[in-house]
Amino acid sequence: MAPSQMKALVAAAEHTTEVKTISVPKPGAGEVLIKVVAIDLNPTDWKHAKLMSPPGVIMGCDFLGTVEDSNGTDIAEGTKVAGFVHGGKYEDRGSFAEYLVSPTSVLTKVPDNVKDEVAVSIGIAGYTAVQALYIRLGLEKPTKDSTSLPQLAEDAPQLLVWSGATSVGQYAIQLGRASGYHVITTASPKNHEYLKSIGAAETYDYRDESTPEKIAEAHPKLSHALDCISEKGTQSLAARSLGKSGGSVVVLLKPEKDAIALREDVKIVHTLAYALLGKPFNYGPAEFKEDFVKSENEKLQPFTSGGILRHLLRSELIKGNKMKKMDGGLESVPQGMKYMEEGKVSAEKLYYLL
Ligand SMILES: NC(=O)c1ccc[n+]([C@@H]2O[C@H](COP(=O)([O-])OP(=O)(O)OC[C@H]3O[C@@H](n4cnc5c(N)ncnc54)[C@H](OP(=O)(O)O)[C@@H]3O)[C@@H](O)[C@H]2O)c1
Repeated sequence: MAPSQMKALVAAAEHTTEVKTISVPKPGAGEVLIKVVAIDLNPTDWKHAKLMSPPGVIMGCDFLGTVEDSNGTDIAEGTKVAGFVHGGKYEDRGSFAEYLVSPTSVLTKVPDNVKDEVAVSIGIAGYTAVQALYIRLGLEKPTKDSTSLPQLAEDAPQLLVWSGATSVGQYAIQLGRASGYHVITTASPKNHEYLKSIGAAETYDYRDESTPEKIAEAHPKLSHALDCISEKGTQSLAARSLGKSGGSVVVLLKPEKDAIALREDVKIVHTLAYALLGKPFNYGPAEFKEDFVKSENEKLQPFTSGGILRHLLRSELIKGNKMKKMDGGLESVPQGMKYMEEGKVSAEKLYYLL
């Protein structure tokens, strides 16, 4: 039985955060109560803390935990699950806490052979990559019965993952490869070998100004891209990299005017992971309405619970993000967020065991 009180990292005055003792949240219909075992950091955590979160809301999105109260749903108590919540927005849900509530529809059941530090990264990074590749770009999904990666024919379809060393990028490379795509990526040269080891067929240096033209010339049929940075001009770099007939570039931040205007044959398509949670919300001036978020949540279903992500992880066809363990639990999370904000993270995701 869960206690009535728990520790959580909550937003405080003037965009600071503090560990406080607050009430354990109560699950609503279709939700479970989860005891949090591990958390990790995403850029959205420090951005919410610094720019958006009002005092009193619980911080944090990604989690791994065990179901403490199944609340009449079909997920048994004790089941190990991973996922994400819209942290930094609500007073009753956030992952930087000893307990959290989550809808069952966005949980992945974690196989026994998958390490905690691998499972914890499924949430924002894994689900965003799924949303970008399969919902926005409409790529072929990996099958649920494969036991090995598909052979790549010489004319395999191509996918560009701009900035593949990001957390989302690492998942996108692995999922793209598992779907049978020839994955082209950009990153700092020190990360090229690692990105090839997780499925990239070709790597380029994003700091080399000629990279977009090199990619476009080598791949005249390239029509699908995911820009995992999506600011300070990267959207245009990804658009320039597409082949002769253009195509779509999915972006993770607001579409940039320059990129939209660059090529008539290239669509810049925005995606936002929080829509997958199926609950209407406002994000700045943008309103994510019920019909849209319900449809996003439905399209995610082949991947959650015992679906495609669980299968790929159990079969070791994907292995999540490269992780870095941080000590000190909830009290140390603000230091981790600062390290991230300062741009010190390179092909690694910071995680904490609670
Ligand atoms: N829309 C959504 O739902 C959504 C979801 C997740 C994330 N995001 C946003 O997407 C962005 C990435 O998040 P993340 O967690 O995947 O990233 P991350 O893991 O924090 O990214 C770190 C990587 O960024 C790369 N990088 C830094 N500056 C770069 C530049 N100018 N060009 C290319 N690469 C650069 C570095 O690559 P090298 O080490 O190779 O240099 C580094 O490894 C953030 O802005 C985040 O807020 C949005």
